Amino acid sequence: NFSKEIKIVEVGPRDGLQNEKSFVETEDKLEFIRLLSETGLKTIEITSFVRPDKIPQMKDAADLYPKVLELTKGKGISTPCLVPNLKGLEVAKSLGVKEISMFTATSNTFNQKNINATIEEAHARQVQVAREASDAGMKLRGYLSTVFGCPYEKDIEDDAIIDGIKRLLDLGCYEISLGDTIGVANPVQVRRITKMIANEFDLNQMAMHFHDTEGMALANIYASLEEGVTVFDSSAAGLGGCPYAKGASGNVATDDVVNLLNKLGCDTGIDMDKLHAASEFITSKIGHQAPSKFFQAYKGR
Ligand code: HMG
Ligand code: MG
Repeated sequence: NFSKEIKIVEVGPRDGLQNEKSFVETEDKLEFIRLLSETGLKTIEITSFVRPDKIPQMKDAADLYPKVLELTKGKGISTPCLVPNLKGLEVAKSLGVKEISMFTATSNTFNQKNINATIEEAHARQVQVAREASDAGMKLRGYLSTVFGCPYEKDIEDDAIIDGIKRLLDLGCYEISLGDTIGVANPVQVRRITKMIANEFDLNQMAMHFHDTEGMALANIYASLEEGVTVFDSSAAGLGGCPYAKGASGNVATDDVVNLLNKLGCDTGIDMDKLHAASEFITSKIGHQAPSKFFQAYKGR
């Protein structure tokens, strides 16, 4: 009893790779993105314009992005990049980035550690970023982190979630991605929070962004589906984690999500063989096994 048309936002090249220890060469990132662009995915988050000393894996952003633009030309694929402040926006503008992701959290402490700003300070930055980005004709996507739990603050109040979403929508974001940043959500909680959000906002503008730290991401996706969510973020092979949330493991694997959705009779428009090829390629570059269960099961089929 849920929507059969589901959109996947692939975040592997950004959220997936940002926490991989060994640097993946720009050419390899490009090949990964090329393979992803052939799967049927319509949105692929590419990189972030942040401090290279903070997130070294993304230090080649300005080199990578123009190559991605060339690669995806005319394919109807959105290639958003994370932008934390005006300095990041300047770079994005100079490279012709068409869509940016802005990010904040429900937790002051997490925001401080992640972006060196309180919730209020982050908002003040984002007001400026959103205005300039919109003037430049960019599309805006918003992330709200720590919606289902925070490594530093115990309880996240419902009001902090509602306020965070409202602010991002008011800035002009067409979609808000609700982050289970450290992968601690459970299906009962997801149902409750999703219902609470649906009472205030249009659920069609919400995406779920689950990390699979406790192996609960697919259960959380199923619960979200039943509540009417139609957009999910995931990363090929299940790469990733969060550098400011100790112990947080990767995003839920696109491979696992597409497999679940296929079995539920949903349509994602994604070709599993091609997705597997992209996951296989990037796994060969990160120097360890892919966390995705379905990736392992699909090997050699
Ligand atoms: P800051 O230190 O507060 O910035 O950084 P500042 O304005 O005080 O400047 C200090 C220095 O940084 C200056 O250099 C600036 O030029 C430079 P100096 O003059 O000392 O040589 N600087 C920059 N350099 C490159 N790009 C920039 C930039 N801005 C300033 N954009 C900042 C603030 C946010 C930039 C920093 O804290 C940062 O880069 N943090 C990393 C944030 C990040 O990428 N986190 C991971 C992504 S979020 C996530 O994963 C969660 C998500 O997946 C959803 C979920 O799971 O919940 C989205
Ligand atoms: Mg994330």
